Amino acid sequence: MWPWLDRGGRFSPLKSVVFALLWAPGLWLAWRLAAGQLGPRPTNEVILHTGLWTIRLLLLSLAVTPLRQLLRWPQLVTVRRMIGVAAFAYGAAHLTAFAADKAFDLGVVATEIVSRVYLTIGAVALAGLTALAATSTDRMVRRLGGRSWRRLHRLVYAIGILAAVHFFLQSKLNVAEPIVMAGLLAWLLGYRLLPEAGGQPLRRLTQIAGLSLLIGFLTLGGELAYYWLAFHADLQRLLAAAFSLKAGIRPGWIVLAMGALVTALTATRTAQRRAKAAVARPA
Ligand code: HEM
Repeated sequence: MWPWLDRGGRFSPLKSVVFALLWAPGLWLAWRLAAGQLGPRPTNEVILHTGLWTIRLLLLSLAVTPLRQLLRWPQLVTVRRMIGVAAFAYGAAHLTAFAADKAFDLGVVATEIVSRVYLTIGAVALAGLTALAATSTDRMVRRLGGRSWRRLHRLVYAIGILAAVHFFLQSKLNVAEPIVMAGLLAWLLGYRLLPEAGGQPLRRLTQIAGLSLLIGFLTLGGELAYYWLAFHADLQRLLAAAFSLKAGIRPGWIVLAMGALVTALTATRTAQRRAKAAVARPA
């Protein structure tokens, strides 16, 4: 089935737009590579960009379920598989670029992967993504049976954690982006652990607000703890930096802002539903 068609074979604008957007970063990168715009170490730039897109798309695929449920937008599920497969494709390109950097000497590639922990972790994550992509077709869903398929695809949570650790470990001094990713991943995993709201939108809204505050402040605290433990930085100065814009917006604030946005969207949806229900109720 073509990626821009829905299950009934009709053209789907949502799937088409997402499909085109998934190609965009790869094509843009290929174009810059061909035009010699990637600086003195182009292969390294390709490794970094493809790695970033792999983890971004992995998180985006995990964001589909909360967005679908909170925004009451069931059609979103139709693009989840496509986003997951794209994450795998960027991951495969990431490994290919790494192999290109080693002149495709597979012995060297394997030795490096085995001897450096962050690469071993990345390789396990990629092996997991490969298993998920290989079993993402309708035929494989039927062959495995819905239950086993769902159980296998829960691997995505562990893959997300491994990817975040790989990202964190390969960062040298600036760990801001890996911490943002870890915070967002923690929110997405935390969402799955929320207790049932029993069909009560207000209870769900409170849970979302609570989760967003908790993960946002844990992210802020996590970054402070990292610099304090790893570099014995002065705690007072770290705290001052967390509340100033001089060192850039800290990851915790970005995660809090994302949480606030999701909470606001959920609140708007809840208010709309309540208004609709009030109109429908006979006087
Ligand atoms: C066999 C598998 C993998 C190998 C060999 C590998 C290798 C690498 C290497 C060499 C770097 C650059 C390190 C540096 O320049 O110091 C890197 C960075 C990165 N990798 Fe991987 N990786 C693998 C799998 C993955 C997977 C599965 C993901 C995500 C799901 C991922 C995400 C990233 C990210 C986000 C970066 C950092 C990009 C940046 O700093 O801009 N990698 N990886």
